[in-house]
Amino acid sequence: MKLTILGTGYVGLVSGVSFAELGNDVVCVDKDEEKIKQLKKGISPIYEEGLEPLLEKNIHNGKIHFTTNLAEPVAASDIIMIAVGTPQADDGSADLSFVRTVAGELGEVLPSDKRTVVVNKSTVPIGSAEEVESMIREKNATADVAVCSVPEFLREGSAVKDTFHPDRIVIGTNVSWARERLVQLHAPLADANDIITTSSRSAEMIKYASNAFLATKISFVNEIANICEAYEANIDEVAQGVGADRRISPHFLNAGLGYGGSCFPKDVQALIALARDKNYEANLLNSTVAINATQRLKPVEILQQQFPRGLRDMKVAVLGLAFKPGTDDMRYAPSIDIIHELVKAGADVHAHDPIVLDDAAPLLPRAVSLHDNVGQAITGVDAMVLVTEWDVYKQYSIAEFSSAMTGKIVIDGRNALDAKTFKEHGFDYYGIGRR
Ligand code: UDX
Repeated sequence: MKLTILGTGYVGLVSGVSFAELGNDVVCVDKDEEKIKQLKKGISPIYEEGLEPLLEKNIHNGKIHFTTNLAEPVAASDIIMIAVGTPQADDGSADLSFVRTVAGELGEVLPSDKRTVVVNKSTVPIGSAEEVESMIREKNATADVAVCSVPEFLREGSAVKDTFHPDRIVIGTNVSWARERLVQLHAPLADANDIITTSSRSAEMIKYASNAFLATKISFVNEIANICEAYEANIDEVAQGVGADRRISPHFLNAGLGYGGSCFPKDVQALIALARDKNYEANLLNSTVAINATQRLKPVEILQQQFPRGLRDMKVAVLGLAFKPGTDDMRYAPSIDIIHELVKAGADVHAHDPIVLDDAAPLLPRAVSLHDNVGQAITGVDAMVLVTEWDVYKQYSIAEFSSAMTGKIVIDGRNALDAKTFKEHGFDYYGIGRR
């Protein structure tokens, strides 16, 4: 099939490359000329395992092209996917201005003599597919178009794998010819049973509800971890016992510093805002957000307890800046809040990340020292805080921690280190819910 993908962010680029790999003819469109220039050379603007080799291969095979002009590919396409950003507006709702701009542009160029499916891949409020369709029709009353919702569930760091091995694919439309075309496009990716067809409104809600549920699961386990600490139970054992119940499942039960990234924080807020628009106060989701906001500051709280006279001039290493391992994404990363608080309290902060350093700098206080070497970051520190569970930290030897650090305080914000080994080597080890 002939596909046009509008927007070459995470979702757009990964989808474009994946559908090209499946044999479709894909054109990716973005307004950012520099990005398109790089993409034409096979250079990905994001770090994502396995993406660049597939990008290069499909450029070479002529299955994927990049352009800044949507008119030509749109006119020739069977399916057009909108994958532009939907950032968070000041009131927490999703800002749809990019989606609206694209809808207007589509209205101007969509042909009337050919059936075209338009897909909303971006996470958009319930009712957006209908809104986009009316915006297209306002510009072009005769366009033979069906706007559908096919939400994206990929995770950063495993985006390519998730696309080729999804748990399910949700196709939201009441228009039968559009549904058939989309089922055909996605058929190579999933068993027929794993393709769920719904209305566009339900599909839009499925995306929000899935992210809100997972975010709530994380805040739930963090709350249990905090109670575990008070009663000297161990969250690792508790999560194992709880997760063994198939109705609960062991996944997404890792206690830590809470969720960050581009999806959960924004989508939970957007769902709260959508509910509020209809005079419903989403109290459970409000609590999810509140727990998450305090959870990320736990390392600062622990340090303040350990150094009751204050953190002024304490040397503290912060290991990991990206919001999770395997990505260079700093959006809503706990490291940002932790470092700001530590610097505010007068600490001398030395941070390390194996991938993101230059891009992190503008988000961090100027006073922080950034290192591209773990050894340098931990040399002479009074305390070490692990914020992102990159493998490099898990593999770092206890002997190296012991010889480099001056103090003995280790705060493992992701329960990723071996508590026993640290304790045996005389460290004051603090995990989350592991006390
Ligand atoms: C998420 C959803 O998983 C994905 O389906 C959706 O399309 C986009 O949002 P992503 O943000 O890439 O994906 O990362 P994910 O691996 O889901 O982790 C999200 C956050 O939750 C991270 O900050 C991670 O550290 C945290 N997390 C995850 C926990 O704190 N505990 C867990 O058990 C799992």
